[in-house]
Amino acid sequence: MAKVAAIVLAAGKGTRMKSDLVKVMHPLCGIPMISWPVNAAREAGASVITLVVGHQSEKVREFFADQQDILFAAQEEQLGTGHAVACCRETLAGFEGTVLILCGDVPLIAPATLQAFLADHQRHQATVTVLTAAMENPYGYGRVVKDGAGQVTEIVEEKDATPEQRLIREINSGIYCVDARFLFTAVADLKNDNAQKEYYLTDIIKTAIAADKTCRSFPVADAVEVMGVNDRVQLAEAGRVLRERINRAFMVSGTTIIDPEATYIDHGVTIGRDTTIHPNVSISGGTVIGDNCLIESSVVIRGCKIADCVTIKAGSVMEDSVIGRGAAIGPMAHLRPGSELMDEVKIGNFVETKKIVMGVGSKASHLTYLGDATIGSHVNIGCGTITCNYDGVRKHRTVIEDDVFVGSDVQFVAPVSIGRNSLIAAGTTVTKDVPPDSLAIARAPQVNKEGWKLKK
Ligand code: UD1
Ligand code: CA
Repeated sequence: MAKVAAIVLAAGKGTRMKSDLVKVMHPLCGIPMISWPVNAAREAGASVITLVVGHQSEKVREFFADQQDILFAAQEEQLGTGHAVACCRETLAGFEGTVLILCGDVPLIAPATLQAFLADHQRHQATVTVLTAAMENPYGYGRVVKDGAGQVTEIVEEKDATPEQRLIREINSGIYCVDARFLFTAVADLKNDNAQKEYYLTDIIKTAIAADKTCRSFPVADAVEVMGVNDRVQLAEAGRVLRERINRAFMVSGTTIIDPEATYIDHGVTIGRDTTIHPNVSISGGTVIGDNCLIESSVVIRGCKIADCVTIKAGSVMEDSVIGRGAAIGPMAHLRPGSELMDEVKIGNFVETKKIVMGVGSKASHLTYLGDATIGSHVNIGCGTITCNYDGVRKHRTVIEDDVFVGSDVQFVAPVSIGRNSLIAAGTTVTKDVPPDSLAIARAPQVNKEGWKLKK
């Protein structure tokens, strides 16, 4: 295939989003809307991608700062799509080949469609090919006007169209393949003598026809791919379509998703074979889940690394944590960032962890807070245990070595260390280090006053 460079138009504000955030940066399945067409262009073979930025350009530049194939062209004033493309003259200087033009607010275009589109354009040695769709209701879109031989002769905007032209159902998606050399001479000559006083990119078709060049249309099979996102209703609709694609890909590769319509997996997540996901689960932040795991209902997982054969029970929330093979978490557990749980660890209901390491086979089965702690292997943490890690100013660590048994209702006033194989009696408030193989007990002596109740 001949060389391909892409342009993604993204300078507009997106007024109808009614948002403080520029439209193209609104998240869709975990990444900004504009990332979707950018990724599609890249997958379709674009070697370099210029983003035309205007409103909140700093936000767009910052997001793409470390992506080497992304260049930026500033469009200070939004004078129209043709003007936007003209702003790319410098980043594409000297480029010869096909320019693939996309819109930052048309996120559903699939990489495979773009590949077929590029191949069609190059096979026919066209100067301009427009990606089009047949729409039941074409209102608002540019209409594709053709001659008797089926060659595209013009694209007319809704506001400029005659009543007959408005009956045309084939619409302009705003996605094009254009020969690079032709493109930059054509956009330089555009006029803005139209209803919107804008420099229309679509007018390059008239220029090409006047110079006797080939203009084609390439209709997409599924019009949803060219759906533009202009408001939050369409944002939700686009999210639904992308989610469906993500979930389908996981199911095809061996993950069971009980109810795909109620499963929210973001872009960039990895899930293994024979893992089962129950409804109302959200998985995001580049989470990696292994094989043969079970994720029960209403679980939220963000930025975690989960090994094989792990069970996450209902209602658990976990973030930036690492879970070893065969571990069981929840129900209703809260793993906060920096929880590193080794193989076969068991975390039960109403247990909160933060910045801890917990060794192989250790358990905290009920109602416990473990923060800033290093816990060895085969440690049992009794119900109601608390690491008192915060003195109001600083955080302190608790260290519990292997094979320690912690009874119920124990407080560790950190910093404190418990030697291996010790036993901490129920109800103990631990304020000093415990040597290995010891019993630590700190309770107020119990007093029984016999007959006390009868004297009242
Ligand atoms: C455009 C097309 C129309 C097509 C429709 C598809 C033109 C003249 N019309 O219309 O035929 O059916 O898209 O959605 O091209 N942008 C800039 N700078 C500008 C103007 C726009 O970057 O100066 C960007 C916008 O941010 C947006 C995209 O270009 O991402 C499309 O612009 P928009 O104003 O939405 O064009 P439409 O009027 O919808
Ligand atoms: Ca639009």
